[in-house]
Amino acid sequence: MMRMDSENDGLPQPRTLPSAPPPPLVAPVEPVPALSFRDVSHRYRSHPALDRLTVEILRGQTVALLGPNGAGKSTAIALVLGLISAQEGSVEVLGTDPREAVRQGRVGAMLQTGAGSGLPPNVRVATVLRLVQRLYPSPTPLDETVRSAGIGHLLDRQTDRLSGGQAQLVRFAVAIAGNPELLVLDEPTAAMDVAGQRAFWAMIRQFAQEGRTTVFATHHLREADEIADRVVVVNHGHVVADGPGSSIKAKIAGRRIRFSCSMPDAVLLDSLEGVTDVDLQGTHVWLNSLDSDATVRDLVRHAVQFEDLEVVGPDLQDAYVALTERRPSIERSSTS
Ligand SMILES: Nc1ncnc2c1ncn2[C@@H]1O[C@H](COP(=O)(O)OP(=O)(O)OP(=O)(O)O)[C@@H](O)[C@H]1O
Ligand SMILES: [Mg+2]
Repeated sequence: MMRMDSENDGLPQPRTLPSAPPPPLVAPVEPVPALSFRDVSHRYRSHPALDRLTVEILRGQTVALLGPNGAGKSTAIALVLGLISAQEGSVEVLGTDPREAVRQGRVGAMLQTGAGSGLPPNVRVATVLRLVQRLYPSPTPLDETVRSAGIGHLLDRQTDRLSGGQAQLVRFAVAIAGNPELLVLDEPTAAMDVAGQRAFWAMIRQFAQEGRTTVFATHHLREADEIADRVVVVNHGHVVADGPGSSIKAKIAGRRIRFSCSMPDAVLLDSLEGVTDVDLQGTHVWLNSLDSDATVRDLVRHAVQFEDLEVVGPDLQDAYVALTERRPSIERSSTS
């Protein structure tokens, strides 16, 4: 523990004039935003897709945009790429307007594909990559792109004869071919098998180690947790949670207790020791608890007639559901 000098001997200390602190050896580096959304709202006709979305992503960060179907992830990505313009609020990419950042060749992207590979048909993969390279002012050397994306074996293949997972890798190669500062990926591992996903995650980590910024949309909680240093959970067009995967899990710290009960009393259940959240669906009861042993003891003490009781640990899936679904529940303000 730190001690005050004047407490040392009880004697008055000689007064010294404050001297200027020595200059820092290295100038402090200000974190620079790679992209920022300020109060961005966007509607498709009358349908709201983004609702006052506010988020800032710093250069060098790898960030997952995690959210269920229709949360607004692809709309946010379309704004970053300047494919649509914000109807309200502002979006800035690499310190400038999104279209300008893209025009300068500083942004690489992999969009969410519907049907097909999203690549031009009847062309060799190598040809596509050479074409893309020519579009950028300072592209990555072709062999480096090929190595980074692990697609050496696919260069002579026709784009329309690739498997779903192979097409994703080629699309990744297209995204990084221009040597971008910011990489934006919309559900990049859709259609990849587990081995493909792991290899892909390794590529993203490599990309991040080079000091670049990556933002990717995903539904895959494990993916967000494993690759990203920050997870931004989006639902109904705005941010509902933001932090490392571990902090998202911590939002529902503790355990989940479930059981059946013919006449559950929500108020009593909410008052049990350790309980932070009560969720009733007919006779099915879910309790979130910070101390499941104490809660179960309290259930017994109050003679709650439970059946089929189970205690389960939390995972990111639980956190995700808790953060994005509005089920009828009683929430204590202290847990928000
Ligand atoms: N072109 C469009 N026209 C009309 N509505 C749209 C359009 N694109 C998206 N939407 C609607 O806007 C909302 C947000 O869609 P968005 O595609 O951004 O979500 P998402 O999070 O990417 O979903 P998913 O995980 O399914 O890809 C959805 O309700 C969707 O139906
Ligand atoms: Mg989408």
